[in-house]
Amino acid sequence: MLIDLLHQYNLSADGTDVIFVCKDGYAPVRHASEMTKLSGGYIVYKDMEAKDGRNWPDSLYNSYSPFYLVWNVDLSKTKELPWPYGLVQIRLVERDSSLLNALSGKSTILKGYHLFRRHCLSCHSMNKIGGKVGPEMNVPKNITEYWTDDHIAHYIKAPKSFRYNAHMPAMKDISDEEIDQIVKYLHFMKKYKIP
Ligand code: HEC
Repeated sequence: MLIDLLHQYNLSADGTDVIFVCKDGYAPVRHASEMTKLSGGYIVYKDMEAKDGRNWPDSLYNSYSPFYLVWNVDLSKTKELPWPYGLVQIRLVERDSSLLNALSGKSTILKGYHLFRRHCLSCHSMNKIGGKVGPEMNVPKNITEYWTDDHIAHYIKAPKSFRYNAHMPAMKDISDEEIDQIVKYLHFMKKYKIP
Protein backbone atom coordinates (compact mmCIF):
# COMPACT_ATOMS: atom_id res chain seq x y z
CA MET A 1 0.00 0.00 0.00
CA LEU A 2 2.75 2.47 0.97
CA ILE A 3 4.69 1.75 -2.23
CA ASP A 4 1.56 2.50 -4.30
CA LEU A 5 1.00 5.77 -2.48
CA LEU A 6 4.60 6.87 -3.02
CA HIS A 7 4.16 6.14 -6.74
CA GLN A 8 0.86 7.93 -6.89
CA TYR A 9 2.31 11.12 -5.43
CA ASN A 10 5.62 10.76 -7.23
CA LEU A 11 7.64 10.55 -4.01
CA SER A 12 10.85 8.57 -3.53
CA ALA A 13 11.07 6.21 -0.57
CA ASP A 14 14.44 7.72 0.41
CA GLY A 15 13.16 11.27 0.38
CA THR A 16 9.94 10.72 2.32
CA ASP A 17 8.92 10.41 5.94
CA VAL A 18 5.82 8.52 7.05
CA ILE A 19 4.03 10.03 10.04
CA PHE A 20 1.47 7.97 11.92
CA VAL A 21 -0.82 10.54 13.51
CA CYS A 22 -2.77 9.33 16.55
CA LYS A 23 -5.76 11.00 18.14
CA ASP A 24 -3.98 11.56 21.47
CA GLY A 25 -1.19 13.57 19.80
CA TYR A 26 1.32 10.74 19.62
CA ALA A 27 2.93 10.59 16.15
CA PRO A 28 5.76 8.14 15.44
CA VAL A 29 7.77 9.02 12.32
CA ARG A 30 9.69 6.59 10.14
CA HIS A 31 11.60 6.88 6.89
CA ALA A 32 9.50 5.53 4.05
CA SER A 33 12.48 3.47 2.90
CA GLU A 34 12.50 1.64 6.26
CA MET A 35 8.79 0.92 5.99
CA THR A 36 8.77 -0.32 2.39
CA LYS A 37 11.35 -2.96 3.32
CA LEU A 38 8.98 -4.46 5.89
CA SER A 39 6.07 -6.79 5.49
CA GLY A 40 3.59 -8.09 8.03
CA GLY A 41 2.02 -4.77 9.02
CA TYR A 42 -1.77 -4.62 9.28
CA ILE A 43 -4.07 -1.70 9.88
CA VAL A 44 -6.67 -3.14 12.21
CA TYR A 45 -10.11 -1.56 12.46
CA LYS A 46 -12.09 -4.28 14.13
CA ASP A 47 -11.86 -6.96 16.77
CA MET A 48 -13.54 -10.05 15.31
CA GLU A 49 -14.64 -11.11 18.76
CA ALA A 50 -16.29 -7.81 19.65
CA LYS A 51 -20.00 -8.27 20.29
CA ASP A 52 -23.16 -6.40 19.29
CA GLY A 53 -21.84 -5.36 15.90
CA ARG A 54 -19.33 -2.96 17.50
CA ASN A 55 -15.95 -2.83 15.87
CA TRP A 56 -14.10 -2.76 19.18
CA PRO A 57 -14.97 -4.09 22.61
CA ASP A 58 -15.97 -1.22 24.94
CA SER A 59 -12.79 -1.64 26.97
CA LEU A 60 -10.64 -0.95 23.90
CA TYR A 61 -12.89 1.40 21.98
CA ASN A 62 -11.66 4.69 23.43
CA SER A 63 -7.99 4.07 22.95
CA TYR A 64 -7.78 1.72 19.94
CA SER A 65 -10.36 3.07 17.50
CA PRO A 66 -10.48 3.99 14.69
CA PHE A 67 -7.29 2.20 13.54
CA TYR A 68 -4.42 0.30 15.10
CA LEU A 69 -1.19 -0.66 13.30
CA VAL A 70 -0.06 -4.15 14.32
CA TRP A 71 2.70 -6.42 13.07
CA ASN A 72 2.48 -10.11 12.43
CA VAL A 73 6.21 -10.75 12.72
CA ASP A 74 8.67 -12.42 15.07
CA LEU A 75 8.14 -10.62 18.39
CA SER A 76 11.86 -10.29 19.07
CA LYS A 77 12.09 -8.06 15.98
CA THR A 78 9.22 -5.74 16.80
CA LYS A 79 10.89 -3.42 19.29
CA GLU A 80 11.86 -0.89 16.63
CA LEU A 81 8.51 -1.01 14.84
CA PRO A 82 5.81 1.58 15.42
CA TRP A 83 2.58 0.23 16.98
CA PRO A 84 0.35 3.31 16.94
CA TYR A 85 -3.22 2.87 18.18
CA GLY A 86 -5.99 5.43 17.92
CA LEU A 87 -4.46 6.02 14.48
CA VAL A 88 -6.34 8.73 12.59
CA GLN A 89 -4.05 9.67 9.70
CA ILE A 90 -0.94 8.58 7.82
CA ARG A 91 0.95 11.57 6.42
CA LEU A 92 3.70 11.45 3.83
CA VAL A 93 6.13 14.35 4.13
CA GLU A 94 9.15 15.10 1.96
CA ARG A 95 12.35 15.08 3.97
CA ASP A 96 14.24 18.36 4.18
CA SER A 97 17.15 17.74 1.83
CA SER A 98 19.13 20.84 2.86
CA LEU A 99 19.01 19.63 6.47
CA LEU A 100 20.06 16.13 5.45
CA ASN A 101 22.99 17.54 3.48
CA ALA A 102 24.01 19.65 6.44
CA LEU A 103 23.89 16.59 8.70
CA SER A 104 25.96 14.35 6.48
CA GLY A 105 29.52 14.05 7.69
CA LYS A 106 28.71 15.33 11.19
CA SER A 107 28.68 11.97 12.89
CA THR A 108 27.82 13.02 16.47
CA ILE A 109 24.95 15.25 15.42
CA LEU A 110 23.71 12.68 12.93
CA LYS A 111 23.58 10.10 15.71
CA GLY A 112 21.62 12.59 17.78
CA TYR A 113 19.23 13.12 14.88
CA HIS A 114 18.50 9.39 14.63
CA LEU A 115 18.18 9.02 18.41
CA PHE A 116 15.79 11.95 18.59
CA ARG A 117 13.63 10.43 15.85
CA ARG A 118 13.55 7.09 17.60
CA HIS A 119 13.01 8.23 21.18
CA CYS A 120 11.54 11.74 21.17
CA LEU A 121 9.84 12.70 17.92
CA SER A 122 6.71 10.64 18.53
CA CYS A 123 5.87 13.05 21.38
CA HIS A 124 7.80 16.23 20.51
CA SER A 125 7.62 18.00 17.18
CA MET A 126 10.75 19.41 15.59
CA ASN A 127 9.99 22.24 13.16
CA LYS A 128 6.30 21.47 13.67
CA ILE A 129 6.63 17.86 12.49
CA GLY A 130 6.14 15.07 15.01
CA GLY A 131 3.99 14.41 18.05
CA LYS A 132 1.94 16.86 20.06
CA VAL A 133 2.09 15.11 23.43
CA GLY A 134 5.01 17.26 24.64
CA PRO A 135 6.20 20.73 23.57
CA GLU A 136 7.76 21.66 20.20
CA MET A 137 11.58 21.69 20.32
CA ASN A 138 12.64 24.34 17.77
CA VAL A 139 10.18 27.10 16.85
CA PRO A 140 9.95 29.87 17.58
CA LYS A 141 12.59 29.20 20.24
CA ASN A 142 14.90 26.21 20.24
CA ILE A 143 14.72 24.35 23.56
CA THR A 144 18.45 25.03 24.14
CA GLU A 145 17.71 28.78 24.01
CA TYR A 146 15.78 28.59 27.27
CA TRP A 147 16.83 25.32 28.96
CA THR A 148 20.46 24.56 29.89
CA ASP A 149 22.09 21.43 28.45
CA ASP A 150 22.35 20.05 31.94
CA HIS A 151 18.65 20.53 32.63
CA ILE A 152 17.69 18.88 29.36
CA ALA A 153 19.95 15.90 30.07
CA HIS A 154 18.49 15.49 33.55
CA TYR A 155 14.92 15.96 32.40
CA ILE A 156 15.34 13.12 29.88
CA LYS A 157 16.42 10.77 32.66
CA ALA A 158 14.07 11.88 35.43
CA PRO A 159 11.22 14.26 34.54
CA LYS A 160 9.59 13.71 37.92
CA SER A 161 12.62 15.10 39.72
CA PHE A 162 11.63 18.47 38.17
CA ARG A 163 7.82 18.30 38.29
CA TYR A 164 5.91 15.87 40.46
CA ASN A 165 3.19 15.61 37.80
CA ALA A 166 5.42 15.35 34.71
CA HIS A 167 3.84 13.23 31.97
CA MET A 168 7.03 12.52 30.10
CA PRO A 169 8.28 9.01 30.89
CA ALA A 170 11.84 8.67 32.26
CA MET A 171 13.99 7.45 29.37
CA LYS A 172 15.84 4.55 30.93
CA ASP A 173 17.45 2.90 27.93
CA ILE A 174 19.36 5.92 26.65
CA SER A 175 23.00 6.23 27.72
CA ASP A 176 24.68 9.48 28.84
CA GLU A 177 26.65 9.50 25.62
CA GLU A 178 23.45 9.22 23.60
CA ILE A 179 21.82 12.01 25.59
CA ASP A 180 24.84 14.16 24.82
CA GLN A 181 24.39 13.41 21.10
CA ILE A 182 20.70 14.34 21.31
CA VAL A 183 21.53 17.64 23.03
CA LYS A 184 24.14 18.44 20.36
CA TYR A 185 21.54 17.76 17.68
CA LEU A 186 19.06 20.03 19.47
CA HIS A 187 21.64 22.86 19.44
CA PHE A 188 22.37 22.26 15.78
CA MET A 189 18.69 22.64 14.87
CA LYS A 190 18.76 26.31 15.95
CA LYS A 191 20.21 27.09 12.51
CA TYR A 192 17.47 25.16 10.71
CA LYS A 193 14.28 26.73 12.02
CA ILE A 194 11.38 26.74 9.64
CA PRO A 195 9.56 30.06 9.36
C1 HEC B 1 5.73 9.68 25.64
C2 HEC B 1 5.93 11.07 25.28
C3 HEC B 1 7.30 11.70 25.42
C4 HEC B 1 8.51 11.23 24.95
C5 HEC B 1 8.79 9.91 24.24
C6 HEC B 1 9.47 12.26 25.25
N1 HEC B 1 8.88 13.32 25.87
FE1 HEC B 1 9.78 15.04 26.48
N2 HEC B 1 8.05 15.68 27.28
C7 HEC B 1 6.84 15.05 27.17
C8 HEC B 1 5.81 15.86 27.83
C9 HEC B 1 4.34 15.51 27.95
C10 HEC B 1 6.46 17.00 28.32
C11 HEC B 1 5.84 18.19 29.07
C12 HEC B 1 6.25 18.19 30.51
C13 HEC B 1 5.90 16.90 31.19
O1 HEC B 1 4.71 16.63 31.38
O2 HEC B 1 6.83 16.14 31.51
C14 HEC B 1 7.87 16.84 27.97
C15 HEC B 1 8.86 17.77 28.31
C16 HEC B 1 10.16 17.74 27.86
C17 HEC B 1 11.17 18.75 28.14
C18 HEC B 1 10.98 19.96 29.01
C19 HEC B 1 10.49 21.09 28.17
C20 HEC B 1 9.37 21.83 28.82
O3 HEC B 1 9.29 23.05 28.59
O4 HEC B 1 8.55 21.21 29.52
C21 HEC B 1 12.30 18.39 27.49
C22 HEC B 1 13.63 19.13 27.45
C23 HEC B 1 12.01 17.13 26.80
N3 HEC B 1 10.70 16.78 27.06
C24 HEC B 1 12.90 16.46 26.01
C25 HEC B 1 12.67 15.18 25.50
C26 HEC B 1 13.65 14.43 24.76
C27 HEC B 1 15.02 14.95 24.35
C28 HEC B 1 13.07 13.21 24.49
C29 HEC B 1 13.72 12.03 23.83
C30 HEC B 1 14.93 11.55 24.45
C31 HEC B 1 11.72 13.23 25.02
N4 HEC B 1 11.52 14.44 25.62
C32 HEC B 1 10.82 12.18 24.92
C33 HEC B 1 6.58 13.84 26.55
C34 HEC B 1 7.54 13.02 25.99
